[in-house]
Amino acid sequence: MKIISTPSDLKEYLKTKKSTIGFVPTMGALHDGHISLIKNAKKENELTVVSIFVNPTQFLKGEDLDKYPSKHEADKKICELAGIDILFMPTADTMYTQDEVSLQAPKIRAYVLEGETRPGHFSGVLTVVMKLLNIVNPTKAYFGKKDAQQLKLISLMVKQLFMSVEIVAVDTVRESDGLALSSRNVYLNKEERKEALKISSSLSMASKMIVRNSLDVDEIKTKMLEVLTPLNVSYVAILNREFEIIKSVEIGNTIILVEALVGNTRLLDNIWL
Ligand code: PAJ
Repeated sequence: MKIISTPSDLKEYLKTKKSTIGFVPTMGALHDGHISLIKNAKKENELTVVSIFVNPTQFLKGEDLDKYPSKHEADKKICELAGIDILFMPTADTMYTQDEVSLQAPKIRAYVLEGETRPGHFSGVLTVVMKLLNIVNPTKAYFGKKDAQQLKLISLMVKQLFMSVEIVAVDTVRESDGLALSSRNVYLNKEERKEALKISSSLSMASKMIVRNSLDVDEIKTKMLEVLTPLNVSYVAILNREFEIIKSVEIGNTIILVEALVGNTRLLDNIWL
């Protein structure tokens, strides 16, 4: 495994490669969710590149940029064991300058749901993903369904800006009790870890209702909010796969998203039905 730390070195190195490239962008503190993305990338491409970069522009003032978990040595081992070819770990000053060209995330779809509580977050995400895709120039790039709104916005960016990379969506990896894996789960204390289970439980309850043909969105939302009590719920949304509001669940074209604060930790989860 080769470790590269500047965009110019990585571009130079990849210039000579003629292989198909699978790319997995991350912010590190790697867990089995990230590893699942890496496995998919390895399976489908000749060369696998993983990036670890805690992107400052996607954190709002007062968010956890400074305390975002950093586990560089463990991450390197995980990547080595996973058999990736290149680990890209740039610093912020090689990725950004002072006076930057900026990318604006869509005014509606990036300012609802997670974007409502984190205005500007998705402009930062799209900017860094665009930079990373331009550096790596991959055949396919892998993103988790867990961050469904992020995945949707990145897919829209690639489509609207006529980029040629293929975006691959990977299923959410969970703990055995249902909690979706997240680098932020380390912030949870024992009590909060237990409370956090209400998020995945509310989603499995919704999917059970749907299996029993209870498809009314308001009814499902009410029941989900009961399961989520007393968590501080930012939103429960039942949308079609275009992220538009619907009244009734349409199987094969629906996504149910939840964001809740458990203690001070913001947790996201969703199911695709
Ligand atoms: P990060 O939170 O490190 O996540 C990197 C990738 O792993 C994302 O595509 C995310 O959706 C995926 N992922 C996280 N948890 C997962 C899980 N439990 N199962 C499957 N996939 C999971 O998302 C980011 O970083 C950043 O915003 C980034 C795209 C790298 C831009 O900075």
